[in-house]
Amino acid sequence: MIKKNAFIAFEGTDGSGKSTQIALLANALEEAGIRVALTKEPTDADIGKLLRSYLKGERITDHRAIAPLFAADRLDHITAEGGILDLLSKGNTVLCDRYYLSSYAYQGLNCDIDWVIEVNRKARELARPDLHIFLDLPCEISMERVKNRGETEIFEQLEQQKRIRDNFYMLFEKLKDEENILIIDASRSPEEIAKEIRSKVLCTE
Ligand code: TYD
Repeated sequence: MIKKNAFIAFEGTDGSGKSTQIALLANALEEAGIRVALTKEPTDADIGKLLRSYLKGERITDHRAIAPLFAADRLDHITAEGGILDLLSKGNTVLCDRYYLSSYAYQGLNCDIDWVIEVNRKARELARPDLHIFLDLPCEISMERVKNRGETEIFEQLEQQKRIRDNFYMLFEKLKDEENILIIDASRSPEEIAKEIRSKVLCTE
């Protein structure tokens, strides 16, 4: 069994099925008597809203300005009332849809990755996930899903997604001694994926 107030971040390329798996894991944890809180980044607070408008292409700025904005949204998310630290301190297990590994992989496309890691140092010091779950799906499949959803954002193109996935894999190697990362084959049925995640998180294997 995981500790009561674990912090788990879900990661993946766009359209990798994070929302479905977060909901399924939340149900399983609640059934096991664990109190769960769901959250996500970018957030719905001020800086997160600003980020969404950059992601939709409604506003444009340099990628080097976007990276610290994601870090600022994250610091706000960590420290705000009802934010990550608050939820953890109240005994919740927190499931977060994307966290700093997304910044490293996405902002690392256009900025020096070590600088992006540095910009996120305070967030990492304040709230480092007990576990990062990476849902791995071939980008051809995830991009089909994204296209079927309609509106697309600035990172949602096949070649970019492939480079983001490569970045994630480069980071897993680079951070293997610092971060606890679980890579999940997300090309299976939602139930099969959920079963594997559940057994790893609840340590029933
Ligand atoms: P999200 O809403 O999770 O998109 P999806 O459900 O399609 O996976 O994330 C929105 C976009 O924001 C996504 O393209 C990834 C990007 N992003 C970054 O570039 N850096 C970050 O630090 C975060 C948290 C997200």
